[in-house]
Parts: sequence; C-alpha cells; structure tokens
Amino acid sequence: MEIKKIAVIGGGLMGRQIALCASIHGFDATLYDLKPEVLENVKAWEDEYLVGRIKKGRMTEQQVAEVRTRFHVEASLEKAVEGVDCVIECIVEIQDVKANLFRQLSDLVGEDVILCTNSSYMVSSLFADCVKNPARLCNMHFFNPALVMEFVEVVQGPHTSTETAEAAYNFCLALGKSPIWQKKELPGFAGNYLFSGLAERARYLVENGYCTPQEVDIALEKGFGHKMGVFRTGDLTGIDLTYTIMKSTYEKTGKKPDMFDCYEQMVKEGRLGRKSGHGFYDYED
Ligand code: NAI
Repeated sequence: MEIKKIAVIGGGLMGRQIALCASIHGFDATLYDLKPEVLENVKAWEDEYLVGRIKKGRMTEQQVAEVRTRFHVEASLEKAVEGVDCVIECIVEIQDVKANLFRQLSDLVGEDVILCTNSSYMVSSLFADCVKNPARLCNMHFFNPALVMEFVEVVQGPHTSTETAEAAYNFCLALGKSPIWQKKELPGFAGNYLFSGLAERARYLVENGYCTPQEVDIALEKGFGHKMGVFRTGDLTGIDLTYTIMKSTYEKTGKKPDMFDCYEQMVKEGRLGRKSGHGFYDYED
C-alpha cells in the first residue's frame, strides 16, 4: 500500500501546512475547509510562502511552479476526497465534530482509503465505530509548524492494520520527517503526554503565584535549553486549542485545571497567541 494522493480536511494552522508540505515533497494534496474564507486565506498564504522560498534561495521558480500544480484547495468535501489514497483530518479538537466528519468521510471514500487524524490528544479508536473499515484508521500527529518540525507520531490502535500504520509511517518519511510508530494508544501520545506533564507543573507555578508565565519560560529556556518554554509554545499552538483541551478535561474530571480562568479570559479577549498578535507575548506581525 502506497500513499500518492491525499486530502487534508481543515485548512487552519495545521492543515494548510501539512497539505503544502506534502505537495512540496511530490504528493498531490487537496485541502478542504468548511469555511470558504479560510480557503481564500490559504491561497494568499501559500503564495506568500512559496514566493518567500524563491527569495530565500530555498526553491527555484521551476520547483515552485511544480508544487503549485500539486497543491489544490477545494470547497466541496466530496470532490476533495475523490481518488485519494489517504485523508488527514485536521479540524477542531472536539470529539463529536471529528466523529461526524469521520462518518461523512467513510461514506464518501472506498474502504481501502487510509483515514488519519491529526488530533493532539484523541486516539483514533475513539472514531473506530464511525468508519466502515477501522483497519484503515490511525493517528498521524504532526507538530507545529508542520512545514518545519520533523517529529510526527503515527499511532496504531488495536483496530489499525499494520499495513496501514506502515503506509502512514512511510508517507511521513517521504515528507522528510523523523516519525515514530507508536504501537499502543495513549491520549496525547508520546509527545503531548510528556509535554502535558511539564505544562501542568508550569501552570501550577503561575496559578499559585510562584512565577509569571514569562519567568517559567526563562527557567525552561535559559535553565534547561528548551527552544521555547511552555507559554511561548502555547502562543504558537493557539491559546484557544489549549483552552478547548482544558475545558474537556474539566468537564470529564470535574477538577478545574490550573490557570483555566486565565485561558478562558484570554480566549474571550481574542488573545489567541501568535495567530492574533497577542497571547502571553506580543507579536508584531
Ligand atoms: P484551527 O482552528 O487553526 O483550524 C481548524 C480548521 O478546521 C478551521 O479552519 C475550521 O474552519 C475547520 N473546520 C472545522 N470544522 C470543520 C469540518 N467539519 N469540516 C471541515 N473543516 C472544518 O486548528 P488547528 O490548530 O489547525 O488544529 C487542527 C487539529 O490539529 C486539531 O485536532 C488540533 O488538536 C491538531 N493539532 C494542532 C496543533 C497546533 O499547534 N495548533 C499541533 C498539532 C495538532
């Protein structure tokens, strides 16, 4: 089984980068989003990115012209998934919304098509009942910025066939990534399982008045050599995403996570991190 043509569903922060990364590495990629304005925005973003690669001497005009022939945006879900070998779901981190999408996808594509979720925490077995062929379902979790970060987690659930996980893993290798193939499911997988432990400690320090968020980041960046502290990373991934995950944990456990009110307030004020220009830090553009 080999992946050649993909569809990415959800053209936000992650989906657009995954689709463009695939096109740059020779795959035919179609990006679909529910909102037409997102697709418009993606076209302008793609253009700016590729022109920037030429200016920086990273790609030739010829290479960029070829990438453009492989990168498509599509306003119809049905057309976006036509003839693909693999679909990567990259929509909001809400289980019911993802489940509905998997039901739709399962009706639209053949049973041999690989279905992946880029969810940050949700294991694919949560969606196994939504698809006709769960053997073709797995996690393929990219890190932000997906055009740059080499780490990807392919997670094989009990329902996932080894053939599917292997094809997903090989696809990541072909994107120039350094993937891991996790053969046992765990919410958050290896990467976010590790990071959430650190993030919980960081929020505890701030909630209880020991440090400011910026001081926590100084400790991690200057003391431990992390490229970005917990809060700088949060600005990059999006305050709204962390808030959605915290809210779901709160609902499930009944225990209010540290700094929940702070994140809620930031979301209300539109301080979503880098994408809105303000988060725990301010960004000029
Ligand atoms: P985002 O909010 O930037 O983009 C989500 C996009 O999905 C939006 O454009 C929205 O219009 C679209 N959408 C929502 N429902 C849809 C539907 N039913 N059909 C089609 N499009 C729909 O979100 P982001 O940050 O790109 O995250 C997407 C997924 O990737 C989430 O599951 C998240 O947990 C995961 N992820 C996010 C990372 C990050 O750093 N932001 C890193 C790794 C994974």
